[in-house]
Amino acid sequence: MNIKQKDQKRTKILNLINNKQTDKQVLIKGWIRTKRDSKKFSFLEVNDGSCISNMQIIVDNTIKDASIINSLTTGSAVSITGQLVESKGGKQAKEIIAEKIEVISLAPQSYPLQKKRHSDEFLRTIAHLRPRTNKYGAVFRIRSELSFAVHKFFKERGFVYVHTPVLTGSDCEGAGEMFKVTTLDFINKKFIENCRGYDDDFFGKQANLTVSGQLSAEMFALALGDVYTFGPTFRAENSNTSRHVAEFWMVEPEMAFCGLHSNMDIAEIFIKYLINHIIENCKEDLNLFAKFVNKNLMQTLDSITSQDFLRIPYNNALDILLKTKNKFEFEVKAGHDFCSEHERYLTEKHFKKPVIIFDYPKEIKPFYMRINDGNKTVAAMDILVPGIGEIVGGSQREERLDVLEKRFDEMGINKDEYWWYIDSRRFGSVEHSGFGLGFERMLMLVTGVSNIRDVIPFPRTPKNIEF
Ligand code: 4AD
Ligand code: MG
Repeated sequence: MNIKQKDQKRTKILNLINNKQTDKQVLIKGWIRTKRDSKKFSFLEVNDGSCISNMQIIVDNTIKDASIINSLTTGSAVSITGQLVESKGGKQAKEIIAEKIEVISLAPQSYPLQKKRHSDEFLRTIAHLRPRTNKYGAVFRIRSELSFAVHKFFKERGFVYVHTPVLTGSDCEGAGEMFKVTTLDFINKKFIENCRGYDDDFFGKQANLTVSGQLSAEMFALALGDVYTFGPTFRAENSNTSRHVAEFWMVEPEMAFCGLHSNMDIAEIFIKYLINHIIENCKEDLNLFAKFVNKNLMQTLDSITSQDFLRIPYNNALDILLKTKNKFEFEVKAGHDFCSEHERYLTEKHFKKPVIIFDYPKEIKPFYMRINDGNKTVAAMDILVPGIGEIVGGSQREERLDVLEKRFDEMGINKDEYWWYIDSRRFGSVEHSGFGLGFERMLMLVTGVSNIRDVIPFPRTPKNIEF
């Protein structure tokens, strides 16, 4: 038997609003947002999470069960059967004249989400309840739609989706910002006696949470052509900024037979595609952000989708930063990575559009990036966007066996650990490239939300792993 048959069939408010048909009996289930009483009627605003709009329920005080209304509080869960009709009031197109009201559960008066607007800081302390607000409901519906758009983009272009591992034995970015994974009992130190360290650990060697799926994705690109991975990644960076979290999602395409500039082309088309998808598919939710969160949102999004991104080598960007009269907190130094304020100056003030910086000094980039002629720079590219700074980091990969091995030696990396990576350059190695798009930063861009903690369900940051 179909298990659904046992349940009463509810209709989502979104479907009731979008469907033209009225004057029929419907059943909705949801949570009370507000209640207003008049002499003969009560008006309930009910939300079921399917969209921002509430459904207005009109309860005639003479119907059976109408006395239930007195006990209803904000946050209570209800089931309502009634006639869907064209609304006579101006605010909404449709409303329901209640015939039957059932209380599923009553929320006490102490329910923290009362009608007033709460600060983002406060809502972070109740991250388990914040999806019940208009703003966070919208954030997480857009997050869902954006994930779907990622898969759609790659599906339409024939990419293969690869599930790269979360547990890994290697450090892709070489920055040593990895969370170690162990089953050794450090607290009770039971292992100390005769412990041979990692040899006695679960995997018999050091294991980490992945910082990037790239190295695994490369192996698959060299077999399947165009692939992508999309999943959680982890970084133990001790930086408390509005753009860093310890657990975030990354989209990482990897393309065989693809050089640096084609890599930039795909990243640029991808970002524009994602923005357009959200504009087309999340109108009501996006409108909330354009109205209440960032008044320039639609303009910013339009300026990103309607222009070519500017492409400039690191050295030229460096010149601009060294010559500008703009005051920075951190000094601009040749041969060093740019800080977020430098990146934002370039994209927000100097060029006023997205900027792709490429050919970085090899000293500040990981082992896998392809060495350019002259042996000073690597075929790296970062994409910077207004309001955020770096949103994409990518590169052409070093496909030449001898150059790669030399690079490992130069950087003091133990080649034995990467035997399989090196192997891929031994058998049918080809030019290939890829990039990583920070999924939360992309969400910040499309919603205008300025703190990364507010676009991920349960943010993990230094000293914070509540929920
Ligand atoms: O520039 P990153 O470190 O690049 C890589 O990891 C490459 N292996 C990707 C690849 O080529 N396949 O990280 C990529 C992006 C950054 O541009 C940023 O958007 C995001 O990931 N990111 C973070 N997002 C949130 N919190 C953090 N701590 C982040 N670190 C990086
Ligand atoms: Mg980067």
